[in-house]
Amino acid sequence: MNRKLSTILLIAISTLFLLMGCSKKESGISGSFKGTGEGHSGPITVEITLDNNKLTDAKVLEIQDSGWAQPAATTIVEQAVSTGSIENLDAVSGATHTSDGTKAALKAAFDSANVTSTEKVAAVNTEKAVLEDVTCDIVIIGAGGAGLTAATAAENAGASVIILDKMPMVGGNTNYATGGLNASETSIQKAQGVEDSNEQFYQDTFIGGHELGDPELIHTFVNNSAETVDWLIAHGVALARVKRMGGSTNSRTHQPADGSAIGAYFVKAMDKAAREAGAEIRLNSKVIEIISENGKATGVKVETKDGIYTVNAKAVILASGGFGANPEMIVKYKPELEGFGTTNAPSATGDGLNLVTPFNADYVDLEQIQTHPTVVPVKNIMITEAVRAQGAILVNREGKRFVQELETRDVVSKAELEQTGGTAFLVFDQDIRDGLAAINSYAKLGLLTQADSIEELGNAIGIDSEALASTITQYNLFVETGKEPDFGRFDLTEKIDNGPFYAVEVAPAVHHTMGGVKINTNTEVINKDGEVIPGLFAAGEVTGGIHGGNRLGGNAVADIAIFGRIAGTNAAAYIEK
Ligand code: FAD
Ligand code: FUM
Repeated sequence: MNRKLSTILLIAISTLFLLMGCSKKESGISGSFKGTGEGHSGPITVEITLDNNKLTDAKVLEIQDSGWAQPAATTIVEQAVSTGSIENLDAVSGATHTSDGTKAALKAAFDSANVTSTEKVAAVNTEKAVLEDVTCDIVIIGAGGAGLTAATAAENAGASVIILDKMPMVGGNTNYATGGLNASETSIQKAQGVEDSNEQFYQDTFIGGHELGDPELIHTFVNNSAETVDWLIAHGVALARVKRMGGSTNSRTHQPADGSAIGAYFVKAMDKAAREAGAEIRLNSKVIEIISENGKATGVKVETKDGIYTVNAKAVILASGGFGANPEMIVKYKPELEGFGTTNAPSATGDGLNLVTPFNADYVDLEQIQTHPTVVPVKNIMITEAVRAQGAILVNREGKRFVQELETRDVVSKAELEQTGGTAFLVFDQDIRDGLAAINSYAKLGLLTQADSIEELGNAIGIDSEALASTITQYNLFVETGKEPDFGRFDLTEKIDNGPFYAVEVAPAVHHTMGGVKINTNTEVINKDGEVIPGLFAAGEVTGGIHGGNRLGGNAVADIAIFGRIAGTNAAAYIEK
């Protein structure tokens, strides 16, 4: 072989190797691919970007789930990108349907790219972020309703704020709030000709709470309620109408115009307001300690997946919510609730109560735990009290009413547990359904039994249908005459006479932890010696003293907004001193 020929052969062989290498590299899939899965309220569509089979990017293109659940989809796709894989992704607790829908969408996108399941598991990103200690004026523990409200008020007062939340999304239990927000002497009530007074609101709250609440806190609560409604509206919370919920003398439960659940509106608007005001929100950031310097609260220690760091601050606001999703704590303080379900978000584990123990903080009413009477058994989905406020009735298996439906929750819960089987049925018609948009989500979840006649409805839910028909005929007569002598129902506005008719079985479940950390009317946390703990403020369900032995429906969202504002404003004033 001459030199020229061997050179040609060498070039040819090298080119072949090069081509083989290149084609091997290019045998992987690259490009963008879409996939769709079914979320809570409709399809979720994602787009993935592959580089030679490796997942380099993913984003959510379309999602119809509630605003508060949408970050769960983002969390899932981010998890996929950071691990390089769609196998073994953790669902976001509290947003299971959204998580599952997003995972299905990712899988569909990989399927459309024709990548096999072993190829889906690519390089895992093991890099950890470098954690740096930070400093701000006020650090807030919890990005639920109280935390977001406090942050907005504090930023508006000139303080720099960091909010920390252990969950991958903002909103906590506030995301779940449905029926509305109570307030008296408001612009909305006045515009709608509703007569009400702060004094009547005070009496309803104090007496409804078995006279256990702190009068000073309740006066602060009611006297600030009207102004807070205007403040919320100015910050984008779309309150527009009032209804009368359990234990209220007048119509003072403020709702969005169509009766949609209030929580999603509240969180979306206040999340935006807090960020626009300048607050920084850090998610997946669990506070494990409040730092104490000479008895003053001066920051927090934060745990993330990458380690622990410190936020130094001049004041700390505790807004970490209640403990309704912590069965051990529930049973510790109220043993008779063992085995009850809960309406609460998984984040409501009562961390705040432990965080303040090094400060010798005092607690009030920890044993005061409320059950909500209309919760779908096993599924633990709360059917809002606003359904009853809209006109629905409660019947037992014998087809009979057994309680004034808008009695306080303790009374209705107790009455239900005394019925055959310990459950009851909410019954309503199409007009009631049309009057409250929140009911549509129950229909979407398949919780409603529907029938064209009352008798068919009774048969479908397995109760005495003849008795049910005569109960409803009788009830409609009460509505016509405006008097209900059996149990004294006062809001006789809606007959149940326009089919289709609907029913849903309900029972009591743990709903609200009314006790908590002791505060004064400035939202300063009080220690066991009755002294203010410097630099430590608290607001929302983590606190006790307002609701006493029974919280009225609509009073908790009012609580987080009213005392959240006070906490933000007063913490900002404290750091100025
Ligand atoms: P949350 O909204 O629970 O926020 C607390 C936040 O703190 C959470 O995001 C949590 O993740 C975070 N957190 C906890 N521990 C830590 C930690 N260690 N580190 C960092 N972050 C932490 N009330 C009404 O008045 N009207 C209603 O219509 C209504 N409907 C309801 C419906 C349901 C199903 C439920 C469960 C409650 C309802 N309530 C209602 C009650 C009301 O929603 C709550 O009491 C209120 O939203 C609590 O707000 P919060 O800000 O105090 O706590
Ligand atoms: O029934 C509900 O909508 C719940 C209201 C509340 O807890 O205040």
